[in-house]
Amino acid sequence: MLARRVLAVVGVAALVAAIAAPASRAQLPTYRLGRTPTAEEIKAWDVTIPPDGKGLPPGSGTATQGESIYAARCASCHGERGQSPKYDPAATKRTILVGGRGTLNTDKPVLTVGSFWPYATTLWGYINRAQPVDEPGSLTPDQVYAVTAYLLHLNGIIGEHDVMDARTLPAVKMPNREGFVPDPRPDVRKSQAPRAR
Ligand code: HEC
Repeated sequence: MLARRVLAVVGVAALVAAIAAPASRAQLPTYRLGRTPTAEEIKAWDVTIPPDGKGLPPGSGTATQGESIYAARCASCHGERGQSPKYDPAATKRTILVGGRGTLNTDKPVLTVGSFWPYATTLWGYINRAQPVDEPGSLTPDQVYAVTAYLLHLNGIIGEHDVMDARTLPAVKMPNREGFVPDPRPDVRKSQAPRAR
């Protein structure tokens, strides 16, 4: 009985010591799941493009160039023209990319790139980092510019031959850019909140 209690105390002490010790990889439990990302993968994810386009890489693309890339890499989940997803009924709303203009003030708002997103540069950054969902980070900068241009064109925002690059993309005025209001919470920095003008 006493022995068991001593053992229990030793056990707790060991646990406390383990928690208090600085976490090192060797002490963390391993679940034999996943793997450490490669430096290249981290580089592909670690890109955030602000509204002014800072960090956009060299390269360019037009909607005409983006059409075939979209058909091959995006249409299976987002529908041929961005509005009729077939792949997952539960994800339908989140995968609509085109249309919805004028619905935000209604009972059934449809949030899309065209109706909701305030900055075209965010679209480039998001596609570059997260799409296609099944193979993120696999598009070249030129391909990302081209599918971005294609989605902007499908939404009636730019022409099919307009060249999107690090200079022209930040200049694209998204339809809902004025639709955001500043977040008044004191812990939100001004730079984080989209500004209404
Ligand atoms: C395997 C299916 C799949 C493929 C292929 C795919 N997507 Fe997606 N995409 C999704 C899903 C699911 C979401 C919703 C993700 C979420 O809400 O977290 C999404 C979201 C998006 C969004 C954000 C929509 C919004 O308004 O929030 C954009 C933009 C987008 N995808 C672009 C693309 C582009 C461009 C391609 C091709 C290069 C692509 N996707 C390929 C499944 C896919």
